[in-house]
Amino acid sequence: MSAERQPIGVIGTGYVGLVTAAGFAQLGSDVFCIDIDADKIARLKAGEIPIYEPGLAEMVAANSARMHFSTKIGDALARARLLFVAVGTPPTYSGDADLSAVYAVVEAIPAGSARGGEQGHALVMKSTVPAGTGASIKRVLAEQGKHGLCYVSCPEFLKEGSAVKDFMSPDRVVIGDDGDWAGDAVVELYAPLDAPLVHTDIASAEMVKLASNASLATKISFINEIANVCEETGADVVEVAKGMGLDDRIGHKFLQAGIGFGGSCFPKDVNALKQLAGNSGYHFQLLNAVIEVNELQKRRVISKLLKHLGSLVGVKVCLLGLAFKPNTDDMRDASSLVLSARLQADGAHVRVYDPVAEREARSLIRGVHFATDALDAAQGADAVVLVTEWREFLELDWAQVAARMSGKLVLDGRNALDAHAVAAAGLTYEGIGRGSLTSLSG
Ligand SMILES: NC(=O)c1ccc[n+]([C@@H]2O[C@H](COP(=O)([O-])OP(=O)(O)OC[C@H]3O[C@@H](n4cnc5c(N)ncnc54)[C@H](O)[C@@H]3O)[C@@H](O)[C@H]2O)c1
Repeated sequence: MSAERQPIGVIGTGYVGLVTAAGFAQLGSDVFCIDIDADKIARLKAGEIPIYEPGLAEMVAANSARMHFSTKIGDALARARLLFVAVGTPPTYSGDADLSAVYAVVEAIPAGSARGGEQGHALVMKSTVPAGTGASIKRVLAEQGKHGLCYVSCPEFLKEGSAVKDFMSPDRVVIGDDGDWAGDAVVELYAPLDAPLVHTDIASAEMVKLASNASLATKISFINEIANVCEETGADVVEVAKGMGLDDRIGHKFLQAGIGFGGSCFPKDVNALKQLAGNSGYHFQLLNAVIEVNELQKRRVISKLLKHLGSLVGVKVCLLGLAFKPNTDDMRDASSLVLSARLQADGAHVRVYDPVAEREARSLIRGVHFATDALDAAQGADAVVLVTEWREFLELDWAQVAARMSGKLVLDGRNALDAHAVAAAGLTYEGIGRGSLTSLSG
């Protein structure tokens, strides 16, 4: 198969770029991976994987003969026609997406390399960009005399923590193009995955991505508001979600109440869609609420601690988990960032532990004690807060935790613990929206 697969370039070797590169290499393409981060490229060349993503190291190792790493975009241009762009698009202060890295890639392609017709190149946008970005980039390409360069939108839907599986078995592949050779070439590349295909125009493909993430974020904020009402009414949101999810128009996914969503995508993409609408004069009221509910939800832990402990001054709080979700080391917009800062501002001493995100967290979270494991983090704690539902926390021996704590409170920020096991160890369990279980004591 590899002899027939076309070589590709992947610009940006982060979570999306590296998984995309490894995935296409697995399907038989030679992949030329480019990144401006020379240190990252040196590590990749040495066989080191700079991020934590289950299965990725194995996939890169298995396909190392087909994966080539460089800091020079010319190395990809010389060998591949399709250049997948997977650079970051973080939020700006205004909430709009920062497209400077995307435009840096456009800028870095020399005009001479953009020959028309069958010999030309195409930019295939994997980065999440606002609808209309493709049109803007095509205008810039024309202004820069790069007329032969085609443009394809191919948004990425992988989830950190299961990215390799998501790439190899996607729910759908969305490809937006101008009806030229490039779109068809991308369709052909994805064909072996046999996924449902939405082959559409560029603006619609761009919008599918933003609308999908906004929809999922809305579902999370919705169930979090239901959870808050459950606390007032004595209902248990876990039971409520179970009952709702059985309706196949609703479904079970994204109905887990907790202390809010974070990560590199939802917060920024929801904001970007809100700003995109605002920039064209439309006030996207629903997304304003989704964002505000999420911010308040992260702070609910503080009010719950105050309810039980009175004041946080001098109180020892243990945070279990720092990454924005399990199975990743990604700390971008993690709820732990807000929590650790708020707790310290209110006078608490914070002890933290995460199985893989400590290295990332150390540069972002100051003033806390990084513990060696969960039991060490619980040492002397007045309260333990589950922030990220790593499996090892769900399997904790709560009698051992209780033996190390000074206090008794366990706040389950993800409704993921066995409430009765916690209470059986003599601890006081409190979840999110679990009215009937609130303050279940041993
Ligand atoms: N992380 C996810 O779960 C996910 C999922 C779907 C879509 N996305 C989108 O994919 C894009 C990439 O996200 P990510 O999480 O992989 O980002 P990331 O920060 O992990 O990786 C981006 C990489 O691009 C490199 N880079 C920046 N400018 C460059 C340039 N001019 N030339 C070459 N390399 C450059 C950086 O050094 C970095 O290695 C974003 O737009 C994001 O919204 C992310």
